[in-house]
Amino acid sequence: MYLRALNDSLTKVMKNILVIGATGQIGSELTMELRRRYGDSHVVAGYISGAEPKGVLKDSGPSAIADVTDRQSMKTVIKQYNIDTVYNLAALLSVVAERKPEMAWKVGIDGLWNVLEMAREHQCAVFTPSSIGSFGESTPHVKTPQDTIQRPRTMYGITKVTTELLSDYYYMKYGVDTRAVRFPGIISNVTLPGGGTTDYAVEIYYAAVKGQKFICPLKPGTYMDMMYMPDALNAAISLMEADPARLVHRNAFNIASMSFAPEEIYAMIKKYVPGFEMDYEVDSLKQSIADSWPDCLDDTCARMEWDWKPQYDLESMTVDMLEKLKIKFAK
Ligand code: SER
Repeated sequence: MYLRALNDSLTKVMKNILVIGATGQIGSELTMELRRRYGDSHVVAGYISGAEPKGVLKDSGPSAIADVTDRQSMKTVIKQYNIDTVYNLAALLSVVAERKPEMAWKVGIDGLWNVLEMAREHQCAVFTPSSIGSFGESTPHVKTPQDTIQRPRTMYGITKVTTELLSDYYYMKYGVDTRAVRFPGIISNVTLPGGGTTDYAVEIYYAAVKGQKFICPLKPGTYMDMMYMPDALNAAISLMEADPARLVHRNAFNIASMSFAPEEIYAMIKKYVPGFEMDYEVDSLKQSIADSWPDCLDDTCARMEWDWKPQYDLESMTVDMLEKLKIKFAK
C-alpha cells in the first residue's frame, strides 16, 4: 500500500521532457541541466537532420529527430517517450532572421503552431522563449515594464510577439500549459550562438582568451540586457515548475540580471586580462536592431509571481567565463 502510494506520487512528479533544438546554444546546456534534475532517460534531445547531438549530449540520454516544420516527427517522439513537457527552442536569431524572414516565420511561427497542436493533442506543457527583441523603438527603453508597447520592426521581433500571443491563445482557448520568459542576450561557454545581435558579448570572451584583439560591431553606449547561461537555464526550469495558481502572466515574463554597453564588458574583461584590446567597426544592421531594443527590463512580475532571482552579475560572470574558456582552449 505504502509502496503503491509512493510510486503514484513519484509518477506524478516524474517528467518526460522533449527539448526541441537541443544542439543549439541554449538547448545543449538546457538538455544537460534537465537530465541532471530529472534523470538522463527522462529528457530527449530533439534535433534536426544536420545538427545531430555529439559527445556527452548524445551519450548521456535519448535523442530523436524533432523538426518543428514536420508535425509527424514530433508526434512520433512525443508518443514514443510519453512526453509531457516540451521546451521549444527552435528559432532563427535576429540577424539571420533579417536575412531569411520567410524561414524565420516558417520555423518560429508555423513551427510553433505544430508544437502547440501536438501539445494540445498529447497534453504537454510548452515553453517557447520570447526575447528582448519582442520590443521596438516605441517601447520605453529604460526599466521596460512587463506590459507595454510591443511594435518591433524586425522579423525576429515580429515572430516573438506572435509567439507570445499564440502561446497565450492556446492557454486561454484550449488550456495548454504554455509559459515563457523574454530572454536577454545569453552568454555561455559551451555552444556559440548563431547570428544574434547580442552575440558580441560571447565572442568578446573568446577573443580575450585566445589573445586576440576584439572588433566590436556595436557603438559605445549601446546598452542591452544580458544574462549568464546558468541563470537563463534556471529561469526556464523554475518557471515551468512554478505554482500555476500564482501566475498572473504567462507569455512571456521579463527577466533581467545585468545590462551593459560594449565599453563596460571590455573594461571588466581587461581587469582580468590586462593586455586585452578592442576596436569598434560598427555593423549597421546589428546597430539598428540593438538601438530598437530596450536598455534594461523591469522584471518585477517574474520576481513576484515565481520568485525569479539571478545569481550572476557582470563581474562574477566574467571570472567564470574566462576560467571555463581557458580550460576549454587548454585541451
Ligand atoms: N540573443 C538574441 C539575438 O541577439 C536576442 O534575444 O538575436
